Amino acid sequence: MRLKARSLAVLCSGSGSNFEALVQAQKSGRLSPAKIRLMVCNRPEAAALVRANRLKVPAALLESASFASREAYDAALTALLCKFGVDGIVLAGFMRILTPALLGPFRGRVINIHPSLLPAFRGAHGVRDAIAAGVRVTGVTVHLVTEELDGGPIIAQEAVAVKPKDTEKTLAERIHRVEHRLYSQAVRWWAQGKLELSGNKIHIHS
Ligand code: GRF
Repeated sequence: MRLKARSLAVLCSGSGSNFEALVQAQKSGRLSPAKIRLMVCNRPEAAALVRANRLKVPAALLESASFASREAYDAALTALLCKFGVDGIVLAGFMRILTPALLGPFRGRVINIHPSLLPAFRGAHGVRDAIAAGVRVTGVTVHLVTEELDGGPIIAQEAVAVKPKDTEKTLAERIHRVEHRLYSQAVRWWAQGKLELSGNKIHIHS
């Protein structure tokens, strides 16, 4: 099955540096034919909202705290994204587990970036866990989102060396630099229809 999405929403909960890198890639033509329609954030204090304002990208604050359940939140989010004509969702530090209320209507249309070489170091602390494990190499993974946490088919990966004196902060900084480049590339492939899903594997057509 070919995967293709061009009209995108970026979902954030925090800093939003990946969101900004995607917007800059779009501005310089490196995301084409993908277009970011809006950014959605679930936390009012998130710096991603300030970035959206500065970058002049439409932004919506959909606060998790105002909804009674995950399903109710995801249903409202789905309705909002449909209103904006979104056909693909780019998760960029969106700290929520998605339910079928969103993953049903957007099956095969949600991607995520994770700061490790999956399937190693799943979960919320990919960088910290890699340092704690003493690995010499970690990295970045872009993957399709399924119900399984950090478990969907892999689109792109790149290794990042762990230096002996690395702290979570220094390693995260180098990982972020790779993320910003790799995510734009993966989004462009997605928008160009170059990704093909077969079983649990994704092939990239040239
Ligand atoms: C990134 O490290 C990403 O891999 C993870 O959350 C972080 C988001 O960073 N899913 P930012 O908000 O894009 O700066």
